[in-house]
Amino acid sequence: MSIRCFECQSPAGDAPVCPACGGLLEVVPDPVDLDAPALKELFRQRRFAQHGPDRSGVWRYRELVHPRLAEPVTRPEGNTNLYRHDSLSAYAGLAGLQLKHEGENPSGSFKDRGMTVAVSEAKAQGARAVICASTGNTAASLASYAAFGGLPAIVVVPRDHTAPSKLAQSMAFGARVAAVRGSFDDALRLAEQASRSHGLALLNSVNPWRIEGQKTIMFELLDQLDWQSPDWIVVPAGNLGNTSAFGKALAEAKALGLIDRLPRLASVQAAGAAPFYRLFHNREAGYQPETSPETLASAIRIGDPRSWKKALFSLEVTDGLVEQVSDAEILDAKAAIDAAGIGCEPASAASLAGAAKLRAAGVIDEHARVVCILTGNFMKDSKTAVAYHQGALEGIPSKRANRPYEMDATTTAFAGFLDEVVVQGTA
Ligand code: F0G
Repeated sequence: MSIRCFECQSPAGDAPVCPACGGLLEVVPDPVDLDAPALKELFRQRRFAQHGPDRSGVWRYRELVHPRLAEPVTRPEGNTNLYRHDSLSAYAGLAGLQLKHEGENPSGSFKDRGMTVAVSEAKAQGARAVICASTGNTAASLASYAAFGGLPAIVVVPRDHTAPSKLAQSMAFGARVAAVRGSFDDALRLAEQASRSHGLALLNSVNPWRIEGQKTIMFELLDQLDWQSPDWIVVPAGNLGNTSAFGKALAEAKALGLIDRLPRLASVQAAGAAPFYRLFHNREAGYQPETSPETLASAIRIGDPRSWKKALFSLEVTDGLVEQVSDAEILDAKAAIDAAGIGCEPASAASLAGAAKLRAAGVIDEHARVVCILTGNFMKDSKTAVAYHQGALEGIPSKRANRPYEMDATTTAFAGFLDEVVVQGTA
């Protein structure tokens, strides 16, 4: 394995960005000795492991991720479920819909897949401390893996736009928390500066090891599908780490002969924070960061996604596209996912909202096999769920609201409740 610049291809060492041109770095994987059938068999065998890195849905695929790391910091992560549900198929108008729930990772989001690799690498390199900027999930994941692996951690989060449960994780796992009066983009700028000035390992998705770990969302998904590619993979997009990782993973899987056909990738942004959507649909105007991103899906409230060039490459190789969805569409899709008993945090539901929109527009065929990625756990943002069900989110029609019925603790009052929900049949 070696590290080179994604843009000018210069070889690069441990620097956070390319020393020659300032571009993002990428890991160039080693050639793999095994052929595709042997690799598939190896991955399958490892699934039965009771202990150690083979239990991890990241390290099980280590030949394609980081083959030479002796002692990874692993909890272990991955092994997330793939769901089908009639109500959600009906919602999207797609009988062949499945949802892969990355919120089932140890700290509650997909970030753990990148973090196990990046924290393990930072530890192996002897980093004195690790740092990231975050809308909450990266911070919670970094805090967890740093604590688990015995490294000091610093996280920089936007004070007013980080869901309380995510902040609670960072605090409780012992990271030092800088809660800045500003946006995620401000936080990332500060974390980048600190990593340069104080020699801290920056573990945002600009770190190429994060991308290597996140590739395993695709490897594990394809493995679960017996290496039969779906037609579409739909993913929420913020800082564009996942979009970048998915294209890299799929291209590598195809080159290794693990799949014979590439799925198409659809990257979905919140309409109030959609610079990548605008770039994709107006290439001539060039990349223009969004200076005041706004969305209730706080995880993807990002105006200046660092990985846009890598993400664009992912869409080129997979014949992919970018969609945008409003907050009302996101929260409606979330309410449907929640009502199916699966649950997710708001940003995750951008994938289902996007799939439904692309189906309605005829871009995705009704017979297509589609996998939506759910990126974060329901409990990450229960505050927004409660507000939705109380009809308290400004500008959001709470069409699926399920309000609690408040009453005195008397038999008479309770009888009124029972009459409504049992006798009149709403229960
Ligand atoms: N969904 C969730 C739940 C997220 O937390 C994020 C990103 C995304 C989607 C977007 O993924 O950045 O790879 O395009 N959260 C970052 C964070 C920014 O700090 O936790 P992306």
